This record gives sequence, C-alpha cells and structure tokens, in this order.
Amino acid sequence: MMRLNNLIIKLKEKKAIVGIVGLGYVGLPLMLRYCEVGYKVIGFDIDQSKVDSLQNGKSYIEHIPSQAIESAVAKGFESTTDFSRVSEADALILCVPTPLNKYREPDLSFVLDTTDSLVPYLRPGQVVSLESTTYPGTTDEELLPRIESLGLKAGKDIYLVYSPEREDPGNPNFSTRTIPKVCGGHTPACLEVGLSLYGQVIDKVVPVSSTRAAELTKLLENIHRAVNIGLVNEMKIVADKMDIDIHEVIRAAATKPFGFVPYYPGPGLGGHCIPIDPFYLTWKAREYGVHTRFIELAGEVNSSMPDYVIAKVASALNLVKKAINGSRILVLGIAYKKNVDDMRESPSVMLMEKLRDLGADISYSDPHLPAFPVMREHHFELSSVPLTPENLSAYDCVLLATDHDKFNYELIKANAKLIVDSRGRYLASADHIVKA
Ligand SMILES: NC(=O)c1ccc[n+]([C@@H]2O[C@H](COP(=O)([O-])OP(=O)(O)OC[C@H]3O[C@@H](n4cnc5c(N)ncnc54)[C@H](O)[C@@H]3O)[C@@H](O)[C@H]2O)c1
Repeated sequence: MMRLNNLIIKLKEKKAIVGIVGLGYVGLPLMLRYCEVGYKVIGFDIDQSKVDSLQNGKSYIEHIPSQAIESAVAKGFESTTDFSRVSEADALILCVPTPLNKYREPDLSFVLDTTDSLVPYLRPGQVVSLESTTYPGTTDEELLPRIESLGLKAGKDIYLVYSPEREDPGNPNFSTRTIPKVCGGHTPACLEVGLSLYGQVIDKVVPVSSTRAAELTKLLENIHRAVNIGLVNEMKIVADKMDIDIHEVIRAAATKPFGFVPYYPGPGLGGHCIPIDPFYLTWKAREYGVHTRFIELAGEVNSSMPDYVIAKVASALNLVKKAINGSRILVLGIAYKKNVDDMRESPSVMLMEKLRDLGADISYSDPHLPAFPVMREHHFELSSVPLTPENLSAYDCVLLATDHDKFNYELIKANAKLIVDSRGRYLASADHIVKA
C-alpha cells in the first residue's frame, strides 16, 4: 500500500521520472508532452542515430519541429540506448512497432525484445505501460510473465497497464493532451497508477476494467475505419459504373447531422495502423474458433484498390491511343496520407511498382519527401519532380495518389495532359480528368 501511494504521489507531484521506450511517431510526442508539464524524461531506443539526433536537438519527424526537441533537452530530456538506466525511471511507457510478419500474422518481436531488455533493470515501485497496438491478451499473456520472471508481483511490487495510443499524425486539430486516452490495469491498483500516470498529461483518461478491454478498444477503433473504408471503396466502384461521383455523394450524405460518418475512398490503405491492426484480431480470434469476416472482406476490397486504379490509368491512356508500356507517368504524393512524410504501407509505392512493372517510365512529386527514401522492400532511385508547367506537361499521365494540401491543383489541372484522380480532388468533370 505504501509503495502504491508513494508512486501515485510521485506521479501527481511530477517528481516521477518517466521513461519512454521507442522514440517514433508515438513515443516522441508523448515525450514532449511529459517534458512540457515538467517531468524528467529519459527516452530509450535501440536506434543510435535517433538517440544522437535527439541529443543534438534535432527532430526526424516532419511534423515535430526541432525547436520542440531543443526545448525538451533544455528541460533535462535525455535519450539513450543504455537500458541499464531503466532502473532510474518510475514509469516506463512502451511505444515500439507491432507489424505483421510475411504470413500476415502479428509480429510481437519488438514488444518482446523491448520487454526482455527492461526486465533485468525493473525494480519495485515502477509502472510499466504498453501503448503499442496489439491483440487482446498481449499484456496478460506476454508481458506479465516476463515482468514477474525475476520475482516482482504485478499489482503489489510493480504496476502493469495497457493504454493505446491515438495519435493522428499531421492533424492540427488534436494534440496529445486533448485526445482522450483509454487505460486498463492488470489489477485495480495497476489501473489507479495508470490513471495517475496519464491524468497529469492528458485532459481525459478513460478507465476500462482490464488490459484486454483496452487492447480490444484500440482494435475496434481501427477495424471500424478499415471496414468503413472498404465499404466506401466498394461504393466507389458501384457509383463509377452508374456514372455518379462517389465524392459528391459522400459530401452530400455527410450533411446528415446524425447516424452517418463520412469515410473516403482512395487507391488503397496505407500507414502503420489501418492495413495491419485488424489482422491482429483475426489471428487471435482463430484461437477462439471465430472468423472475422468483416475484417477479411474489407481487407480484400481495400487491397484490390491499387489494381482498380491501374486499370483506370490503362483505360485513360487508351483513350488517347497510348499504353502504360512506354508512357511517362508522374505519381503525385507518395506518403500514405496527405500532409505527412510517412511512407509506411503507402499504396502510392504499390502503384509505382505496378506501373513500372508494366513498362511505364515513372517519376514522382511529393513536397514532403524530396527523395524516395530507403525502404526495406521497395527501391526507387528517384527525387521529387518540382511541379512547374513545363514539367507537368511533359508527362503522358499524372496520377494523383495522395492529395497533399501543398499541391497547386489549379496548376496541375491547367498543365497536365491527362490526370487520373484517385482522391476525388477534382469534383468538376473535364475531358482530361479521369476519376479512379
Ligand atoms: N504512428 C501512428 O500514428 C500510431 C497511432 C496509434 C498507435 N500506433 C502504434 O504505436 C506503436 C508504435 O508505432 P510508431 O508509429 O511510433 O512506430 P515507429 O516505428 O515510428 O517508432 C518505434 C520506435 O521504436 C524503436 N524500437 C524498436 N525496437 C525497440 C526496442 N527493442 N527497444 C527500444 N526501442 C525500439 C524504433 O527504433 C523506433 O524508433 C505501434 O504499435 C503502432 O501500431 C501508431
């Protein structure tokens, strides 16, 4: 009881040291928020180049300014690859990746490796919170036995919570502070500590009864998106056959003040979350003999979208007596969504590869990505083409894949010979614009 009260008091008085493990899209904003309210924060990562960059006050994420890192460093923020410093922290928040493996099954290796590196340095009176998106049961079945392996008892010596992140990179309307945060504890005492940990930095913390409920909450949110995007992608195909613009229809439907949430079709799903997270549940549900049919169906529809767009490019070129093979095609936007520089799972890359394999001469333009980045599975030796009237008119086809606000849409419309629009940016029809 003493231990619990001491930790809660330390957290509430901001005297606790907060360790953020995994300094990426999720960990970095969280680190900034804890620094901002006055906590001492230590950042842990295995990537030495990220640690060095942060120590030098430099950001490596476009929407996080270096100035913010500099002021965190001035307030005492330190980053390190030395996990023996874990014992200095009172709270450890895990924000490491949870991808799928090549069989599209959960790859928990980052979470488990991280936990294994923490375990030797854990001590009584700490709280460990997992934020990575994952299937229900991960905290109980995977973290708990590892954390207790050296004799600490969760709920008594050490506190264990799961609290999913809800970051929406690039969205200026929400910040870490203003996005409500769900939290579940392994025991009631764990939850109490979790609420104190997050209550100081987040306006509204929403308690749930277990870590499993919190894990499934995050998956429900992302599955809801994946399924609804699958639905509008299918509606787009139907509307197109009927010669109706789906974007006009969605905008009209969205004027209904209740019972309708607009989702927008596109060239396929991208990002680290929506194409991946639903399959964490699909995998886990098999253990219970349940098939997640909505998830599978949405996955099928969404993953067929790049081919749908390619077919539109082929028929658009065909109208001007050209083939994909040998055509010069400029892809606009290679990030997975607008106004960010994140390429993970970007459908644009799939489109570029498919077009290249069909014999097109591919270029791209993206104001957020001046050079095509080094990626594990994709390779293009390209840099972003500046959008000038001369450049635009030199291509047989311009494919709008990601509709960044920084693009000058009038300039594109006025100078491109042929536009294939997969984002509904051009509502008014024109002879040289094909909706995809
Ligand atoms: N990006 C988002 O918008 C978003 C939103 C909500 C939830 N999430 C979830 O949050 C989690 C993290 O995602 P992200 O986008 O921040 O990933 P990221 O790849 O940007 O960052 C992860 C960081 O963890 C580090 N790392 C990897 N293994 C490590 C280890 N063993 N020890 C310490 N550090 C290690 C990496 O070097 C990297 O810096 C994922 O589960 C993701 O699904 C992401």
